[in-house]
Amino acid sequence: MTDLPFDGAISRYLDQDAPDAIRKAVREADKDDILAPSYPYREEMKRKAYEAEMDELQRQLVRLQADIKATGKRVVVVFEGRDAAGKGGTINAMRENLNPRVANVVALAKPSDREATQWYFQRYVDWLPAAGEMVLFDRSWYNRGVVEHVFGFCTPDQRQHFFAQLPPFEQMIVEEGIILVKLWLNVGRAEQLRRFLARETDPLKQWKLSPIDIDGLAKWDDYSAAIIETLSRSHTGHAPWTVIRSDDKKRARIAAIQTILQRVDYAGKDAALIGIPDPAICGGPELWD
Ligand code: ADP
Ligand code: AMP
Ligand code: MLT
Repeated sequence: MTDLPFDGAISRYLDQDAPDAIRKAVREADKDDILAPSYPYREEMKRKAYEAEMDELQRQLVRLQADIKATGKRVVVVFEGRDAAGKGGTINAMRENLNPRVANVVALAKPSDREATQWYFQRYVDWLPAAGEMVLFDRSWYNRGVVEHVFGFCTPDQRQHFFAQLPPFEQMIVEEGIILVKLWLNVGRAEQLRRFLARETDPLKQWKLSPIDIDGLAKWDDYSAAIIETLSRSHTGHAPWTVIRSDDKKRARIAAIQTILQRVDYAGKDAALIGIPDPAICGGPELWD
C-alpha cells in the first residue's frame, strides 16, 4: 500500500462532495468511455487510427522545425486550460521528434517576491523566442485571468489592469513578427476528476498533484466564470483563441498539432495531409462550456 498524497483528498472529494452525476460518471464508467454527456463522441479514438494520424503530423512538425531554423521564424504557442486539461501531454506529443533547442517549454513557477513587484508581463517577455525558436508556454500570462483570480493571488484592480494591457501586449508580440498561437484545452468536470484520481493512485503521476488542484476541486464554478471572462476579453482579431475539447486526449492532441501546423507557413507544408481540425471538438470560444 502506498500512502495517498494529500491524505486521499481526491477520493474523499469524489465520494463525499462531488455532484452525484459526476461521481456516478467517474466511478461507473468503463476505461474508454468519454464522461462528458455533451462531448460529440462516446468513446476515445482508437489507438491505431491515432498513431497513423499522429505519425503524419510528426513528419510535418519536423518540416516546420526545419523551416523555423532555416528562415529564423519566431513562434509562440500558449497552452492554457484547467488543471489536468492535458497541456503537458499535448506539449510532450508536440516535442516527441523535435530538437529541444528549437521547441522549448516554458513552465514558470509562481512569481518570486521580486517578480511580484515587476510589470506583470515582464518575466514572460524574458522567455519570448529568438530567431529559429518555437516556445511552448505550459501556462502563461493567462494565470492572472484565471487561477490568480480564483485563489485571490491578485487583487481585482491588478486583474482589471491585466485585462486592459492584454490586447495591446499581444498586439505588440504579433506586430513584432512573432507568430502567436493560443490554445485553450477544455476538459469536463468528471474527466478532470478521473485524471486527478489517477494521479492520486499512480506513483508515477503523483508529482502532478498540487495543493491548488485539491483546493480547486470546490471552485469549479469560480473557474468557469473566470475562464469565460478571460476568453471574452482576450479573443481578439490579432490573437484569437482556439478552444479544443480535451476529454479525449488523443483527439485533442491531434487537433492541437493540426491547429499549429495550419497557422504557420513552412516549406513542405501539405495542407491535405495536415487535414482540418475536427470542428466538433475544435473551434473558437463558442466551443467552451
Ligand atoms: P500546475 O497546474 O502548473 O501543475 P498548480 O496547479 O500548482 O501547478 O498551480 C497552477 C498555477 O498557479 C501555476 O502556474 C502556479 O505557478 C500558479 N500559482 C500557484 N501559487 C501561486 C501564487 N501564490 N501566486 C501566483 N501564482 C501562483
Ligand atoms: P469584448 O469581449 O467585447 O470586450 O472584446 C474584447 C476584444 O476582443 C475586442 O478587441 C474585440 O474586438 C475582440 N473580440 C471579441 N470577440 C471577438 C471575436 N469573436 N473575434 C475577434 N475578436 C473579438
Ligand atoms: C495538464 O494536464 O493540463 C498539465 O499537465 C498541467 C496540470 O494538470 O496541472
